[in-house]
Amino acid sequence: MPDAVVVEAPAKLNLYLRILGKRADGFHELESVMTTIGLYDTLRFTANDSGSLELECHDAGRPVGGAGSPPESPPNGPTNLIWRAAQLLRDATGCAAGAKIELWKRIPIAAGLAGGSSDAAATLFGLNRLWKLNASSQLLHDLASQLGSDIPFFLCGATTALCQGRGEIITPLSLPAGLSVVVARPATGLSTAEVFRHCRPEPGTGGGQQLAAALSTGRLQAAAGHMHNTLQEAAFRLNADVLQLRDAFSQLPFVGHLMSGSGTSYFGLCHNRNEAARLAGRLRALGVGAVFVAQTRP
Ligand code: C5P
Repeated sequence: MPDAVVVEAPAKLNLYLRILGKRADGFHELESVMTTIGLYDTLRFTANDSGSLELECHDAGRPVGGAGSPPESPPNGPTNLIWRAAQLLRDATGCAAGAKIELWKRIPIAAGLAGGSSDAAATLFGLNRLWKLNASSQLLHDLASQLGSDIPFFLCGATTALCQGRGEIITPLSLPAGLSVVVARPATGLSTAEVFRHCRPEPGTGGGQQLAAALSTGRLQAAAGHMHNTLQEAAFRLNADVLQLRDAFSQLPFVGHLMSGSGTSYFGLCHNRNEAARLAGRLRALGVGAVFVAQTRP
């Protein structure tokens, strides 16, 4: 058994998120383009002989340039998605081994950046290796979708994907790496379930593919014309900080801007790193929250 496995779990942004309708199971049918960015939580998995699970969460500090604290800390115990992922993997494979799991948290919580989902995917991947389970990608995918709608994306091996169904039907997309974004996160968070409850679905598919096609041929301005998030209107009504961010981003020359996921993070697409650094400085001067620059991953 390897002594330790370390996994970097990236944050994601939704470049496109259209909620198509509510389903009989209470979830919403959606179409989304998700892409990972260079902001990571770090997880370290170590074998233990006791057969128990231990979880230790550390605050590894805010992203470079970020300010303020997240509104809450991740739970250390069985309610943490990391713990639930570990337990589900053990149940599904009949594995009796234990592990110590350490998490260094950098991705803000309740921010629409899917930090918790990414940590859960990293746990399935990391413990599968630590415990040498050889679980198939299909089994890991099935366990991921049981745990949460965003989690399968982080296991698909692609840095960008079209996500459909309730989020678990994944089609990898190839986009140019290193798109520059400025991400801002207010001091307050939002509950995903509550934002979904207040959203008005918008039937109609195809926007995600159009956005991806424009990005893959480097047509940033055309891509920006397709950036869309159905959940934005609900988030604006539920949290005035997100509306304030939208107004701040609207004053600046971003190629396009949008809320990520169910909020509260808001991001702007830029032509290059220098422009992103300059616009991040202007947002910080407006005092609208923690602001950082990131790139999409290769
Ligand atoms: O799947 P996950 O546990 O991340 O979803 C959190 C909540 O967001 C769900 O309980 C549901 O209220 C809402 N949701 C939804 N439709 C989706 C994904 C999430 O209604 N496709």
